[in-house]
Amino acid sequence: MARGKAKEEGGWKKFIWNSEKKEFLGRTGGSWFKILLFYVIFYGCLAGIFIGTIQVLLLTIDEFRPTYQDRVAPPGLTQIPQIQKTEISFRPNDPKSYEAYVLNIIRFLEKYKDSAQKDEMIFEDCGSVPSDFKDRGPYESGPGERKVCRFKLEWLGNCSGINDEQFGYKDGKPCVIIKLNRVLGFKPKPPKNESMETLAMTKYSPYVLPVQCTGKRDEDKDKVGNVEYFGMGGYAGFPLQYYPYYGKLLQPKYLQPLLAIQFTNVTLDTEIRVECKAYVIQDLEEILNLKDKHDFIVV
Ligand SMILES: *[C@@H]1O[C@H](CO)[C@@H](O)[C@H](O)[C@H]1NC(C)=O
Ligand SMILES: *[C@@H]1O[C@H](CO)[C@@H](O)[C@H](O)[C@H]1NC(C)=O
Ligand SMILES: *[C@@H]1O[C@H](CO)[C@@H](O)[C@H](O)[C@H]1NC(C)=O
Repeated sequence: MARGKAKEEGGWKKFIWNSEKKEFLGRTGGSWFKILLFYVIFYGCLAGIFIGTIQVLLLTIDEFRPTYQDRVAPPGLTQIPQIQKTEISFRPNDPKSYEAYVLNIIRFLEKYKDSAQKDEMIFEDCGSVPSDFKDRGPYESGPGERKVCRFKLEWLGNCSGINDEQFGYKDGKPCVIIKLNRVLGFKPKPPKNESMETLAMTKYSPYVLPVQCTGKRDEDKDKVGNVEYFGMGGYAGFPLQYYPYYGKLLQPKYLQPLLAIQFTNVTLDTEIRVECKAYVIQDLEEILNLKDKHDFIVV
């Protein structure tokens, strides 16, 4: 046993370094060198192919415009205040219950203040009534930022926070601000006047993307009560001169047009589901509703 073990150990040592044949782990220095060289070249080529592929891919990516963009998918509507859920529940006589909503709106409107839109190099006036799309040249030719239309906070009227710092919540008349999510190059087509009759819009303009907010279910329709809309020029919708959007690189300070809605006679002590829709015509000439739901619980 003991002799066998010693012999075995001797065998191992011999395997690791065979001084007779000058072999390390069964191979000569030259053999090891060849193997090493093979792997260096092999992995070098793999890395080369990998880097090459990435470089080619990067070359095809345009800095200003996404190479692949789903052109069919319309953008969605977003409401403010938005705190975790889309639900807004408050008690008019309990400031704590709506404090978070008010702060959320104030914070959001920060960049819409006059003082935030002073820079003449970035902002320009695009009128105070809705007008047609504002093309600002091709998307790719840069560098050079494109100008951004100013949006006046005062257009949001009673929901601008100028006269009412509580945005109506104190009086049980909650304000909600609605915006259309930005999509590069998106030129929304508003519906024609004739097709708007069913909507009972107060004011029609071919340059406004109309928005309407109603109760979602039949039992909600009566409880919603009167809805006031505050937008540019007194139109209930999004004016077209704010489109198309040129992207983060060319319009880093872009301001989406806003629409404020105020529920001035909402039924208290109940849960109401409100649905806001923006009406856009897709290429198929069909009215497309961009929906956004929120629940109100006014206690
Ligand atoms: C805005 O608020 C004032 C004061 O509460 C009110 O008199 C006026 O009718 C409101 N305007 C609209 C359009 O609701
Ligand atoms: C839209 O239609 C209504 C009635 O159908 C009409 O009173 C109004 O003048 C029209 N507006 C425009 C801008 O064509
Ligand atoms: C508010 O709604 C109630 C019923 O929900 C109605 O009786 C009242 O006349 C409405 N007030 C106004 C100013 O529209």
